[in-house]
Amino acid sequence: MADVVRRAGPADAERVAPLFDAYRQFYAQPADPALARAFITERLARDESVIFLAEREGRAVGFVQLYPVFSSTAPRPRRLWLLNDLFVAPEARAGGIGRALLARARRLAEETDAVGLELVTAVTNTSAQRFKRTVMRETELHGQRMRVGDKVALAFGSGNRDWRKFPNPDVYDIARRLQGHLGFGAGKHFCLGSQMARLVTAIAMKRFLERVPEYHLEVDEIAWNSSSNFRSPSALPFVTH
Ligand code: HEM
Repeated sequence: MADVVRRAGPADAERVAPLFDAYRQFYAQPADPALARAFITERLARDESVIFLAEREGRAVGFVQLYPVFSSTAPRPRRLWLLNDLFVAPEARAGGIGRALLARARRLAEETDAVGLELVTAVTNTSAQRFKRTVMRETELHGQRMRVGDKVALAFGSGNRDWRKFPNPDVYDIARRLQGHLGFGAGKHFCLGSQMARLVTAIAMKRFLERVPEYHLEVDEIAWNSSSNFRSPSALPFVTH
């Protein structure tokens, strides 16, 4: 049987809930099937979100959840869909389901004459994610008291998406001024190899593009290494033309 993407109704809560629970676990929340079931049941019963469910061989394998909001700054103020949750079960990945769910979400925006979709996804798309420090001197930052000996995680990845620092921080803007970017850290421990890393990357990309000018990714979703410090793909399968 082919993959099916359909809108979930209140009767589908039991099918969506385990996926929602797995999705929350991906975002480091503890497994809690009861909480997941209650949340999804409530959203669907109250018509407070739109959920599209992907099924393969009749088995629920993915979902996307959109919340209705409005855009007041569009030329004609109207509906905007907040695409908050998207999940495909690991065993069903790389088969076009993520793409089908996104296409369905996009169609919802068209059908409802919405301004568009606003994507809220993991704030993780930078290589250096987190480094740790031990507090040596009592400090207070943003109302948070830190005592000597406390362990602190510096969330560089999140800092690179700071909307107070960078306008449109979630947009891939190749012309963005890099001042203040934390990709190589900051302050005393700023990366010693930053110049070398930049040079090596520039040479490698140049050589690669000379030999492989045309290529596309072979998978819908990239698998990432599980590391709390660095974010990097575990594999990047692509097809050359
Ligand atoms: C794209 C590649 C690289 C990235 C994204 C990167 C990122 C970083 C980051 C974020 C830090 C700060 C860690 C902290 O604050 O605790 C750091 C530190 C450091 N990096 Fe890199 N790095 C890269 C390549 C390199 C290379 C090629 C070298 C060596 C040749 C290198 C050597 C170091 C060293 C020695 C430190 C520690 C500096 C210190 O604590 O004083 N890095 N790097």
